Amino acid sequence: MGMIGIHSDIERVLISETEIQTNVSKLAEQISADYADNGQLVVVGILKGSFIFMSDLTRRLTVPHRVDFMALSSYGQTTTATGAVRIIMDLRVNIEGRHVLIIEDIIDSGYTLHYLLDMLRTRNPASLRSCVLLSKPDRRKVDVPIDYIGFEIPDVWVVGYGLDYAELHRTLPYIGALKPEVYQ
Ligand code: IMP
Ligand code: MG
Repeated sequence: MGMIGIHSDIERVLISETEIQTNVSKLAEQISADYADNGQLVVVGILKGSFIFMSDLTRRLTVPHRVDFMALSSYGQTTTATGAVRIIMDLRVNIEGRHVLIIEDIIDSGYTLHYLLDMLRTRNPASLRSCVLLSKPDRRKVDVPIDYIGFEIPDVWVVGYGLDYAELHRTLPYIGALKPEVYQ
């Protein structure tokens, strides 16, 4: 028999399933309105963290769009930054002359998104914007323009709704703060 309640590695639920769904719907509405007159929208999900957010968000878009993914690596198995951003898997869709919207799970230092925006800009998209589910403003090291933000959160390690700690907890339906003893 399973226990009722939150996972034992989770200290508290930061954002409930309902709150997530409400803001994802709002983001989809806003994005659909902003791209209403633009054809050729390519929505680019950054794996793996964005996979659940990406699928909920794109299914609520009311404008035509292509879906593609990139996989990057900026962190190892821990919560400490290693510095370098690597492309593990590149886009399949050609973005030249198309409107590109990047979907990220979370922006922390900003290095990942900064690198990605610079890199994709060299491919000459018609426009390039970013949408993140979560932002930790206190942690920012580099100034990155973010066009759509789901939630601002404090400087705690969060998991669930796609986000992991050492590849665990990605499929929790809520965003939870990890107990410090789990990653210390
Ligand atoms: P940045 O380059 O420092 O902005 O880091 C962004 C990446 O770090 C995200 O795409 C996540 O993979 C990871 N990350 C940062 N904070 C968290 C967190 O609290 N939980 C899970 N992943 C995180
Ligand atoms: Mg990520």
